[in-house]
Amino acid sequence: IHNVIFESSDEASLQVAEEIANLIRDKQSKGETCVLGLATGSSPIRVYEELVRMHREEGLSFKNVITFNLDEYLPMEKDNRQSYHHFMHEHLFNHVDIDPENINIPDGMVPPEKTKEYCLSYEKKIKDAGGIDFQLLGIGRTGHIGFNEPGSHYNSGTRVITLDHITRVDAGPAFLGIDNVPRKAITMGIATVRSARRIVLLAWGQNKADIIKKTIEGEISSEVPATYLQEHDNCTFVLDEAAGSELT
Ligand code: F6R
Repeated sequence: IHNVIFESSDEASLQVAEEIANLIRDKQSKGETCVLGLATGSSPIRVYEELVRMHREEGLSFKNVITFNLDEYLPMEKDNRQSYHHFMHEHLFNHVDIDPENINIPDGMVPPEKTKEYCLSYEKKIKDAGGIDFQLLGIGRTGHIGFNEPGSHYNSGTRVITLDHITRVDAGPAFLGIDNVPRKAITMGIATVRSARRIVLLAWGQNKADIIKKTIEGEISSEVPATYLQEHDNCTFVLDEAAGSELT
C-alpha cells in the first residue's frame, strides 16, 4: 500500500476525481470502455460531486463507463431512501450521461433461494465487462472493505454476509436507530476487489485513524480484511491528516 496524506479531504477528493476522469478520457480516446467499482457512504461523496461538476462544466462523458457497486443491504428496496441504489442515483448517476444499462448495483430484494445464483452472475458480469479498471473504496471501523467484515476469506467472491455489530451501530443514525439497520448485505468479495487493476481507498477523520494504522502497519489477517490490500501492487490509501494521524 502506498499512502498519501492531504491537508483536507476536500483537496484529496478532487485529486481522486481527477484520476478517475483521466482514466475515463484515456479509455474514451482509445474507444474502450472504462469499468469502475464504486462505493457508497460518506467518504466518496465529494469525489462524486466533483465528477458531476466535471460532467457539467468540462464535458466529461460517462458514455463509455460501466459501473459495479460494492454492496447493498439485504433486504432493501431500490427506492428506499436508505438503499445504496438511491444513494448512487442521488449523488452520481442522475447527474451524468451514463447509460442506465451500464449501472450495476447488487439487488437487495433477491429472494433467499436465489442469492447464490445471483452472486455468481454478478461476478460473471464483472468478468464479462473485462474486469474492474478502477476500484474506489471506503473503510469501516471494523476494517471492512465493501461489507467484507472480519473473518472474510482472502478468496471470497460476491456473497451474502452478516453485518458486524459495529457496522450496524455506525449505520444507526441514517436508519433512525440501530434496530432499523438490516442485518445482512450482499457484497463483492475480497477476491473481487483484489482483482481490480487499480484500487484507491479513502479515509477521512480521526475515527478512522486507528483502523488505518492497523490496516497499513498491522499483520495481514482476516481479522482486519482491509489488510489484504497490502498485497495489491497498485493500491493507494488517500487520507486526510486526521485519518493518517496514528501512522508511524
Ligand atoms: C460502502 C462500503 C463500506 C463503506 C465503509 C465506510 O459501499 O462498501 O465499506 O465504504 O463502511 O463508510 P463511510 O465512508 O460512510 O465512513
